[in-house]
Amino acid sequence: MKYLVFETKKEASKEAYKILKSLIDENSTLGLATGSTPTDLYEEMIKDHKEGNFSYKNIKSYNLDEYVGISYDHPESYHKFMDVNLFDHIDIDKNNTHIPDASAENLDQALENYQNELNNTIIDVQILGLGGNGHIGFNEPGTPFNSGVHVIDLKEETIKANSRFFNNDVNLVPKQAVTMGINDIMKAKHIILLAFGKEKQTAIKNLIDSDIVDESIPCTVLKKHPSVYVLVDKEADFRN
Ligand code: GLP
Repeated sequence: MKYLVFETKKEASKEAYKILKSLIDENSTLGLATGSTPTDLYEEMIKDHKEGNFSYKNIKSYNLDEYVGISYDHPESYHKFMDVNLFDHIDIDKNNTHIPDASAENLDQALENYQNELNNTIIDVQILGLGGNGHIGFNEPGTPFNSGVHVIDLKEETIKANSRFFNNDVNLVPKQAVTMGINDIMKAKHIILLAFGKEKQTAIKNLIDSDIVDESIPCTVLKKHPSVYVLVDKEADFRN
């Protein structure tokens, strides 16, 4: 595992993009994340694309997760987030982008479909954010390390943390989400995890500065992966 600390989110994201670009080519498959963490990385991707240096025409992507119970038109749907923050600004073919369909009438079928798609794919690089409680994707503490695509009940602390996107009203935050499982995430060839802000410090300490590998802290599973890059700002650095 490589651990890199930067002054700012912007600097970390620039380096994350350099690492990403060194690991992929224009035919690669990406695992993508949402939330506040990857936005500057996506800006770097867009900038480089607009400068003519990288085409996404043949790139495929798979997103980690989606809230249950909000439609595409909701500003906080992760599907919408991806269009607004990345897909609408690059030449990716949206038929090659995949996001769990968490508002499907038949949710079980939608889970099965996404699992089948993931089983038939090799993700070259998975981008990850990190929950304050150590969650990756929406795999909350206690999720089995061998889990596949599933519906998760969001923990109270996650609902509270994410209420900042929902008018600071916990009642407006969906209580469930569909997420890739930990086993799906671990199958990626390379993983780039980003974490910014002091809320992430404890999870980073458990990941970088402990021997813990336990389902109660989902990110600790990454210690078993052969190629992980962890980039943080100084607030998230465990030594601070
Ligand atoms: C959210 C997302 C995760 C994300 C994490 C951190 O709930 N489901 O994929 O990595 O929690 O969120 P943020 O980047 O907004 O801090």
